[in-house]
Amino acid sequence: MKGIILAGGKATRLRPLTSITSKQLLPVYDKPMIYYPIDTLIKAGIKDILIIIAPDYSGHFLNLLGDGKEFGAHFSYAVQKEPRGLADAFIIGKDFIGDDSVTMILGDNIFEKDFSQEISSFKSGAMVFAKKVSDPERFGVVEFDENMNAVSIEEKPQKPKSDYAVVGLYTYDNKVVEYAQNLAPSPRGEIEITDINGIYLKNGEIKVNIFDSLWEDAGTFDSLLHVSNVMAEKAKTKVEVK
Ligand code: G1P
Repeated sequence: MKGIILAGGKATRLRPLTSITSKQLLPVYDKPMIYYPIDTLIKAGIKDILIIIAPDYSGHFLNLLGDGKEFGAHFSYAVQKEPRGLADAFIIGKDFIGDDSVTMILGDNIFEKDFSQEISSFKSGAMVFAKKVSDPERFGVVEFDENMNAVSIEEKPQKPKSDYAVVGLYTYDNKVVEYAQNLAPSPRGEIEITDINGIYLKNGEIKVNIFDSLWEDAGTFDSLLHVSNVMAEKAKTKVEVK
């Protein structure tokens, strides 16, 4: 299983914080944001990781993270010149993925959960994770039937069919590369991860795992502040326990 961290994009929503650095290098309490997705992949047993970055500030990632030895992992890097959508990660990462399966995590998604059990037992198809949220219209939304089988997945729907957001951690078999290469851009001009999930769903090959622990997409001022506060609280609790 290979790992990809998608840390490209321009993060215009976070300007001026992102006028002089990349979103994924901003602090989340005491660590750069990207440490969290790195940790999530490594905890899940994935050590061969491709980090996809935007051209601006790409050297900062190299200076900070190096070849990954310090993390007990191996990092490779690829530059994404223009943000073309999340599914572009599998086109950029084609050679890196080779014949393997792959888990992709978004560089601004912060989790507490240990995904090692689910990821180590992955065999084929697609596996995504969903969490109940109060603002599903901001995300990919999965609708379930009465047996909790996924029946539709829509990207940022105006009228969400459920409260379950698809979070930014996706595991796919090798077919994802071919699917990504053949995707047509959406009305917003991007090749959408939700369309990839739609193909697996249509083929009856997607598993949606619901979870309820901490998840934050730290792409807005409020979510960045919130997750920093949560991490600060947790750090204090840990000290007290000692
Ligand atoms: C992306 C995906 C969306 C997903 C979200 C998770 O949205 O397109 O389906 O729910 O990540 O963070 P973005 O944050 O790029 O708008």
